[in-house]
Amino acid sequence: MTPAIEIKHLTKKIRSGFLMKEVMALSDLNLSIPPGTAFGFLGPNGAGKTTTIKLLTGLSFPTSGEALIFGRPVSDISVRMKIGFLPERPYFYDYLSGTEYLHFCGELFGMTRAARNKKITKLIELVGLKEKAGEQLRKYSKGMLQRIGLAQALINDPELIILDEPMSGLDPMGRKQVRDIILHLKGQGKTVFFSTHVLSDAEMICDQVGIIVQGSLQSVGDLETLLSPKTCSIEVSIKGVSESALSLFKPMASSTKIADEGYVLRIDDAGILPKLLALLQAEKVQIVSIIPHRETLEDIFMEEIRGRQS
Ligand SMILES: Nc1ncnc2c1ncn2[C@@H]1O[C@H](COP(=O)(O)OP(=O)(O)OP(=O)(O)O)[C@@H](O)[C@H]1O
Ligand SMILES: [Mg+2]
Repeated sequence: MTPAIEIKHLTKKIRSGFLMKEVMALSDLNLSIPPGTAFGFLGPNGAGKTTTIKLLTGLSFPTSGEALIFGRPVSDISVRMKIGFLPERPYFYDYLSGTEYLHFCGELFGMTRAARNKKITKLIELVGLKEKAGEQLRKYSKGMLQRIGLAQALINDPELIILDEPMSGLDPMGRKQVRDIILHLKGQGKTVFFSTHVLSDAEMICDQVGIIVQGSLQSVGDLETLLSPKTCSIEVSIKGVSESALSLFKPMASSTKIADEGYVLRIDDAGILPKLLALLQAEKVQIVSIIPHRETLEDIFMEEIRGRQS
């Protein structure tokens, strides 16, 4: 099957400033994303997410390498017709109302008035802007603009939807709505490629994620596989234990802290857990909770950045 997105050795060097200093914004990126995938492109600020998206949408040109969408170069007009795009900082003609703006976007795709009317009613509903649709965009809040931006990305019923930080500026309800919209699109067999630096945004909806740090792709795959081998520690909360009994368990833990009416034992090696639990039970200690702490995306970002600086 032809991948929805195929990126081969994509590299972008940017020269800027008075001294024309060279920045490696993206370095030898390779990715293949099958149709129907919700792909989360994760990375900290300045990682190269927007750079990649600009190359994918033809807004900028690579220094080397290429990007293909449904097997064709991004410059191909027939390909652009199949793409919906929400930029990181969309520009709006703010004297237009939400509905007028969507009509304008629909006209750019050559949609008839009847087709636009039908689609716009659905989209306004989908992004939760029914009450505000007739108001000028200059009266929209940041989150409302983000919603209308998302609606315009879907006006042409695209096969591939590229969203640069679609959840930014949204409240928790808005974030959930965007997640639901992405899931809905996925359900229709569409491919969604979106960037974020927030792990939880990607966690619930992505089939696959790519993690990019300082212009280089660090890993790609499903989130579970990327994060699960990296359980770093386990916290066992206990209650009803005397200080003298505590000395029995202390040597097994890497740290012990006092918590409400008890203690939290932290162990760094999961292999110790059965032995510790057996001992706690033998001593009739009440076990309140056992919480594994897996590595977070932020930990991975920090590790990568430290690795590169050393
Ligand atoms: N026009 C430009 N001139 C100079 N440097 C640039 C330009 N655009 C991007 N860069 C640099 O390229 C790198 C990648 O930037 P990019 O905007 O792709 O990051 P990002 O992952 O989208 O970050 P964010 O999460 O902050 O949006 C950064 O080091 C940035 O400073
Ligand atoms: Mg960006």
